[in-house]
Amino acid sequence: MAMNIFITGGAGYIGSHTVKLLQKLGHRITVFDNFEFGHREALPTNVHVIRGDLRRKDDVVRALTANPADAVIHFASYIEAGDSMRDPGRFYENNVGGSLNLLSAMLATKTRVIVFSSSAAIYGDPKVIPITENAPKEPTNVYGHTKLIVEEMLHWYHRIHEVRAVSLRYFNAVGCDPEGELGLDHEPETHLIPVALKVALGLRPALEIFGNDYGTPDGTAIRDYVHVTDLAHAHRLALESLASGKETFNAFNLGSETGFSVGQVAKEVILVTGREIPMVVKPRRAGDPEKLIANSAKAREVLGWQPKYSDLRTIIETAWRWHSQHPYGYRNAR
Ligand SMILES: NC(=O)c1ccc[n+]([C@@H]2O[C@H](COP(=O)([O-])OP(=O)(O)OC[C@H]3O[C@@H](n4cnc5c(N)ncnc54)[C@H](O)[C@@H]3O)[C@@H](O)[C@H]2O)c1
Repeated sequence: MAMNIFITGGAGYIGSHTVKLLQKLGHRITVFDNFEFGHREALPTNVHVIRGDLRRKDDVVRALTANPADAVIHFASYIEAGDSMRDPGRFYENNVGGSLNLLSAMLATKTRVIVFSSSAAIYGDPKVIPITENAPKEPTNVYGHTKLIVEEMLHWYHRIHEVRAVSLRYFNAVGCDPEGELGLDHEPETHLIPVALKVALGLRPALEIFGNDYGTPDGTAIRDYVHVTDLAHAHRLALESLASGKETFNAFNLGSETGFSVGQVAKEVILVTGREIPMVVKPRRAGDPEKLIANSAKAREVLGWQPKYSDLRTIIETAWRWHSQHPYGYRNAR
């Protein structure tokens, strides 16, 4: 059944891929974004867009009142964990304060369904791999703490106000639209694969490897990479399960359940691009765990999620296609 869906941060990386999928399925979308990091070019021309800031409660109350929604998907937040350790207040204000304003607007408009972008960062440095949803939640940075606080707020809004909520805990979101229309345009870019591709394009001098003395086979840190289009599909499934009443409150890990080291990813980038990737080893970054790998059995079993694009080769091929055609991002396509 077609729904009216209000999407915060829909002009960002994961948001825009999700907007594309949901619009194709016939849902009516309103994107709410301040465009600090989002791109109008990443959205279909016929999608309804509202420029507003979640930190201004009036903006979001007005937008949701004018566009009554069956459900909200909440992507908008700051995402750089390193920045969160330099300027925590900015992160609490945007990620927690902005979410509180959104929840107030939802109550004011009797909107009761929300899918929230949470993160593997809520687990911190895990004791047990792979990580299940019940693992201890001990974030090692402020960014992860903001996500945990919002999950806990959702718990209380569920109990007190009957808000139905699913938190999706993404591991490392990577890759680009398999049809080549959408990509990743973060400035500054800090994520491994897009940075490696910029090095391959000659736009950066070298790939920095943060630590080669971890207890892993090649000494570099291991992460779980999940394709952005697979994440988009998980949002669709979460929305459907909330809309049908099958789910009322839940949280799911979304990862490929496979770990690759930084060194393995760099090798694959060299293979796919056929280019040189000069590398420099730097000290470990504070708070960077050795190994993060998801157990996503719950998402597969309860939501019926089946990742299709999350193998490393497809991830890097789809990303390379977009980055090589848009070396300077959305505004400067080749
Ligand atoms: N990228 C990842 O690997 C990853 C991993 C785990 C979780 N997440 C979460 O997924 C969500 C989306 O991440 P992304 O990589 O697409 O980030 P992104 O920066 O590309 O998208 C975030 C969007 O939110 C908008 N925004 C931020 N603050 C806003 C505000 N106050 N008002 C209105 N709009 C605002 C930005 O302009 C941007 O378009 C975030 O909540 C992030 O924490 C991302």
